[in-house]
Amino acid sequence: MTEPTGPPNTDPAVLDGGGPPEPADRPLVELRDLRVHFPIKRGVLLDRTVGWVHAVDGVSLRIERGSTYGLVGESGCGKSTLGKTVLRLEKPSSGSVVLDGIDMSRMSGEPLRRMRRRMQMVFQDTLSSLDPRQSVESLLVEGLRAHGMDEGGGRTERRLRELLSAVGLPASALRRYPHEFSGGQRQRVGIARALAVEPELVVADEPVSALDVSVQAQVLNVLRDLQDEYGLTYLVIAHDLAVVRHVADRVGVMYLGGLVEESDSDELYEQPLHPYTRALLSAVPVPEPEVEDSRERILLSGDLPSPADPPSGCLFQTRCPWRQPGVCDVERPEPREVGEGHRVACHYAERIRDGTLPGGPAASAG
Ligand SMILES: Nc1ncnc2c1ncn2[C@@H]1O[C@H](COP(=O)(O)OP(=O)(O)OP(=O)(O)O)[C@@H](O)[C@H]1O
Ligand SMILES: [Mg+2]
Repeated sequence: MTEPTGPPNTDPAVLDGGGPPEPADRPLVELRDLRVHFPIKRGVLLDRTVGWVHAVDGVSLRIERGSTYGLVGESGCGKSTLGKTVLRLEKPSSGSVVLDGIDMSRMSGEPLRRMRRRMQMVFQDTLSSLDPRQSVESLLVEGLRAHGMDEGGGRTERRLRELLSAVGLPASALRRYPHEFSGGQRQRVGIARALAVEPELVVADEPVSALDVSVQAQVLNVLRDLQDEYGLTYLVIAHDLAVVRHVADRVGVMYLGGLVEESDSDELYEQPLHPYTRALLSAVPVPEPEVEDSRERILLSGDLPSPADPPSGCLFQTRCPWRQPGVCDVERPEPREVGEGHRVACHYAERIRDGTLPGGPAASAG
């Protein structure tokens, strides 16, 4: 169930079933039925596997070159695991991670190291992700060196200044240490370090969650400016829907390891179709009083199930106000296209949208 299936296949022509598509319209990242399951170990020597945590459970998605993909969902739904697996810091249990047409799922050693240079991560917690004993200069040079890009002398020096100026820090920051900066400045250092090796893809895992709201916007602007300047592709992970709305072109909503809905950012906020997305959005207050008074509120019943013991059928069925017994608890809905570019993993998405399905939050509340 959780073991890799089949041999690696890195030939893009074979992967795509026909001839390789033109690089220009090939997505930079493609995940195909990706699963990441962690063993639960018991016994004195932790030598018995007694179960599996289904951290990522069958996710397929594409991230277009130069775009920003926002991934949202509540704590523990598998966002970070998915992000780390895209960078191959975690190994997929099955399914594939394809970067620019190359399947990295089963890669290791030198080929993987070369691929890794094309991708970098920005973390939420800059205090623990930046070594406190190293100056900014040494942190940045370390990244360059790891990929053989430290050309030494004047060139490296110039490159470091360039990086700092790109993220809005003065050159004097080079001699300072992480703890001497504010949270926002430290995140700029984190971003500069990610950019040092000229990546194509940046995975930013909750990049502004630890920052004050006023500083959040500044750091998000830095990310956006850098994207324009260097044509970067981003996977931005957040539990805050508001953060993702402002930066993402496309948004994916995760629940218990699965992708339940995906669409262009505006469309998702204007016309959420999956009951879980509707519940998430109904929890976000709206600044206009009239809208606020009339907006839908969906309170989810029950607790989040454990990813070690996910429900049968639809992952959301234990908490869904529209649950239809005999269907939702039996068959897991695959994400399917309901509107243009709008995918929803729900058997009843259209009837919920049109209000023709019995049940729903009003009925269960009344
Ligand atoms: N290395 C690991 N070994 C075992 N279980 C893990 C490991 N990493 C993550 N998990 C489990 O996988 C599930 C998903 O975790 P993950 O960190 O991906 O969630 P998340 O959506 O990023 O949550 P948060 O919003 O709190 O950061 C959780 O149940 C977590 O406990
Ligand atoms: Mg996380």
